[in-house]
Amino acid sequence: KSIAVFASGSGSNFQAIQEGIERGDIDATIKVVVTDKPGAYVTERAAAKNIPVLALSPKAYDSKEAYEQAILAELRKNEVEFLVLAGYMRLIGATLLEAYPNHIINIHPSLLPSFPGKDAIGQALAHGVKITGVTVHYVDAGMDTGRIIMQRAVDVVEGNREETEAAIHAIEHQLYTEVLKYLFNSSENRVR
Ligand code: GRF
Repeated sequence: KSIAVFASGSGSNFQAIQEGIERGDIDATIKVVVTDKPGAYVTERAAAKNIPVLALSPKAYDSKEAYEQAILAELRKNEVEFLVLAGYMRLIGATLLEAYPNHIINIHPSLLPSFPGKDAIGQALAHGVKITGVTVHYVDAGMDTGRIIMQRAVDVVEGNREETEAAIHAIEHQLYTEVLKYLFNSSENRVR
């Protein structure tokens, strides 16, 4: 399956997915990494893996629709079939949702529906939860609201955000690989 990974930051999930592909665990090819942040570290990770980057600043476009049309043109050129969001800090609008119905997934560092949106980890720690986790879900028009595909729990390391965050990221990298194997490697095509 030809995929595009969307990221706005470090790109550790992108790297984990690409390494899963290189190991032969995931039956997919990352055709392009799409980012809204030209300087994001994910662009370095993609370059190191010889994967093209499409870095478009939304500010260069006079509407979200125009911005997504520009992305869509590149996705079509690369014959991308499925979008994988990994630390992409923008909502996906109607242009991309309509072009890829039920073919966009996202990873979120909490057990949705708890703690949607920004800084989910900070929200969970502030609330004092003892167990948090990771969710992979289909993307719909809402923020972190689409149908849940898989979840995994992570114990909070009391009073230590850094260790908790590291534990969450390790589980993210594992879970995304498992979800993509489940979606793409299966004999029956499970992609809805
Ligand atoms: C991850 O925690 C992801 O769940 C959240 O943003 C972070 C991205 O990390 N959406 P990275 O850029 O993949 O390292």
